Amino acid sequence: MASQVLVAANRGPLSYVLDDDGALTARRGGGGLVSGLSAALARQPEALWICAALSDADREAVRRGVSEPGVRMLDIDPTTYDDAYNGIANSVLWFTHHHLYDVPREPVFDARFRRQWEAYAAYNHAFAVALAEEAGEGAVVLVQDYHLALVPGELRALRPDLKIGHFTHTPWASPDFLGMLPDDIRSQLVWGMLGADRLGFHTRAWAGEFVRGADRDDARGCADPFWPSDSSPGVHHRPMGPDGRLGERRTTDVGAYPLGVDGDDLRALAHRPVVDDKLAALRAEVGDRAAIVRVDRTELSKNVLRGLLAYRELLISHPEWRERVVHLASAYPSRQDLEVYRAYTQSVRDLAAEINAEFGTPEWQPVLVSVEDDFARSLAAYRMADVALVNPVRDGMNLVAKEIPVVSEAGCALVLSTGAGAYEELREDALTVNPYDVTATAEALHAALSMPADERLERTKRLAAAATALPPAAWFTAQLDALRDA
Ligand code: G6P
Repeated sequence: MASQVLVAANRGPLSYVLDDDGALTARRGGGGLVSGLSAALARQPEALWICAALSDADREAVRRGVSEPGVRMLDIDPTTYDDAYNGIANSVLWFTHHHLYDVPREPVFDARFRRQWEAYAAYNHAFAVALAEEAGEGAVVLVQDYHLALVPGELRALRPDLKIGHFTHTPWASPDFLGMLPDDIRSQLVWGMLGADRLGFHTRAWAGEFVRGADRDDARGCADPFWPSDSSPGVHHRPMGPDGRLGERRTTDVGAYPLGVDGDDLRALAHRPVVDDKLAALRAEVGDRAAIVRVDRTELSKNVLRGLLAYRELLISHPEWRERVVHLASAYPSRQDLEVYRAYTQSVRDLAAEINAEFGTPEWQPVLVSVEDDFARSLAAYRMADVALVNPVRDGMNLVAKEIPVVSEAGCALVLSTGAGAYEELREDALTVNPYDVTATAEALHAALSMPADERLERTKRLAAAATALPPAAWFTAQLDALRDA
């Protein structure tokens, strides 16, 4: 049956595991996009979520016809998928939007890159075709993230009747970084995005980067950005068709929808018995010391190394904290197919071990690093956090900065990077830091640890209120409504 609301994202709400006896079991997918969208779509029972098969077990499920209601997985040839996901999405677009390149050596746009780009285009095309098949007349389609930047343009060509939105969960690259992409590739990217009626970003800053970048790109779109009012900036353009001719003048609206957390859902999750057990175990390890908590994916942009350097500097410049504080650093394994991610994760472990060797005593281990997929342990750490450290170099939103104040029991001081999307909403009650400035981060940790308990509690309440201002369901409906009115 044709759907009236469709979502397309690389990662689906679940993925499969193949047991030794050949049985398939569905497991919940991970990451901010999946948790936000799953919560939103729980209230949209008619919606269809189109996603990629991520593993052999997922592909096996598609072949056997195993599926869950409201989900369609696309079985994309594994080499094409690997080139699109690891090659382009995670090694080029992710690095461009997060400004992660080691510029004397990277990026290199060569023949291999060109082959991978073909795969990225084919993978986007597969999504566009599936959406065109499944969507009812005039349906609303919400395409998610940098994996699927070409889908809006492709889908518009196939189905001009649809209302097409695209939401970017990452930052958008500054015009200088976007300008590193080869001209024809950058034009395709901007053309793909401008196929949407409406583009959503987490912050006004990222929306602004998109509009400025589109302005500089005239190869296929004749962009002409405008910001008529605070609420509805957009881009005027005349998209070029496959025949190379300029089409009719159109407007793509660009808006900020800062995804927040659902306070009730999160508190309920954080008070399950499994979390109580993890909390008791962590408390036993930390004792009555203060806890500095961070939770990330094993991700380069999260800046875990400079966070550890700042913690080391704190122990040197403010030795009064020695033996009185523990740093709990948890990371979910992510993108371990990429060598640079494996190496980064190893560097984190090595630096933590160095700090423990330098300052540790028989009674005190200064840093506890855990690299595992354990959400219950993270929630337990949130509950006992005295200080939350969120210092990414650049981050679309960073939901951890919003989750910790909601769950924290005694109030928690938030040290927050100016590079996180969450900075736009949380800056007044956080201790904000330039993520490259290790000394400033160490001083912010000291200020956070020294903050009087009543001030900490007051700030935490205001942070929690800001964090829950636009929970996933409202975030999603705001975009649906804006698209329906488009
Ligand atoms: C970021 C991206 C999401 C992605 C998540 C996890 O938040 O914006 O699209 O789902 O990271 O990354 P992964 O590569 O594991 O899907």
